[in-house]
Amino acid sequence: MTAPAELVRTLEPRHYTDPEAFRREQSTLLSTTWQFAGHASLLENPGDYFAFEIAGQGLFCVRDHDGAVRGFYNVCQHRAHELVSGAGNRRFLACPYHAWTYELDGRMRAGPNTRSVVGFHREDICLTAVKTEVFCGFVFVNLDPDARPMAEWFPDVDEALRDFVPNVDSLKPVEWIDVEEHCNWKVSVENYSECYHCAINHPTFSNGVVVPGTYDIQPQGHCLRHTTKCQNLERMSYPVDLDAHPRAGEYSAWFLWPLFSFQVYPGNLLNSYHWRPHAVDRVTVWRGWYTIDGVDSDVVSRLAIQDRTSTVEEDIRIVESVQRGLSSRGYRPGPLVIDPAGGVKSEHSVRVLHEWLRESLDRP
Ligand code: FES
Ligand SMILES: [Fe+2]
Repeated sequence: MTAPAELVRTLEPRHYTDPEAFRREQSTLLSTTWQFAGHASLLENPGDYFAFEIAGQGLFCVRDHDGAVRGFYNVCQHRAHELVSGAGNRRFLACPYHAWTYELDGRMRAGPNTRSVVGFHREDICLTAVKTEVFCGFVFVNLDPDARPMAEWFPDVDEALRDFVPNVDSLKPVEWIDVEEHCNWKVSVENYSECYHCAINHPTFSNGVVVPGTYDIQPQGHCLRHTTKCQNLERMSYPVDLDAHPRAGEYSAWFLWPLFSFQVYPGNLLNSYHWRPHAVDRVTVWRGWYTIDGVDSDVVSRLAIQDRTSTVEEDIRIVESVQRGLSSRGYRPGPLVIDPAGGVKSEHSVRVLHEWLRESLDRP
């Protein structure tokens, strides 16, 4: 990446504190980028569905009778009742208000007494679809009808992740941990996306998982790829069989702008981050841990707890302090430490995040 010719400052505090800025992000950024909906294991069989919300819009995903995963706005085309809630399985979708029904591919099926209506054409009525993709077993949607596919947003990530986690299609969530943070989601994402703070704040991560001096984060499309060397086996905090897989001794992460990250720990252990912004100063970070078929694993359970009580806990203190600081009348946006050579003591990746944010906010 090119080094900036002059100082690059962090964003104005209002981006992190002003409810109006948050509302604007909902209608711009979150409505035009790929958003995690849920794990595909929730949709194993035709008719399986789950409802969720993105950017204030009710949505649901469903597996249709041909095996395709589809996403729709969760609204009946009659008089706007919500169609489904929670998760479950249906042969077809029936609206609870007046019992209009829809096929799993969104076409209207029937409605009581609609045949008596002159000019009523059932074939013209269909649920409103949203772009949906299954990416390495994770379902993502994009509210922008013109959105480019995820392979263009995040080039080579699918292949690389499969290389690190060869059984990614057989994984199911085994542990998931909600972490409430009283901060703007960008404070949390920026903190995740630089390791300038790691050595002094994350002793377990820095001594038990990675070698901080080798940590780097570089853009790859709209993905920030984290790479590092790992500690040698004796210093790892859990046993790793290096002979099990050529990548067994490696750590890597792929942050998918703006709210999701795949992370692989040594031992080919996949875990994920999903940031769920609730308000300008509140976000839930959902940590997911996965095993083949979702079978219990002591190693994964221990690792999930270790991660929650060390790295995650350490980051909560940081991001909540930053959020308070962003409301200080004494704060002026400081310069980012951008080392032209990249590396762990550089915040070039934060600059990239700010450029991506501006891209969507500047869209007409
Ligand atoms: S609103 Fe759905 S059937 Fe009337
Ligand atoms: Fe951190």
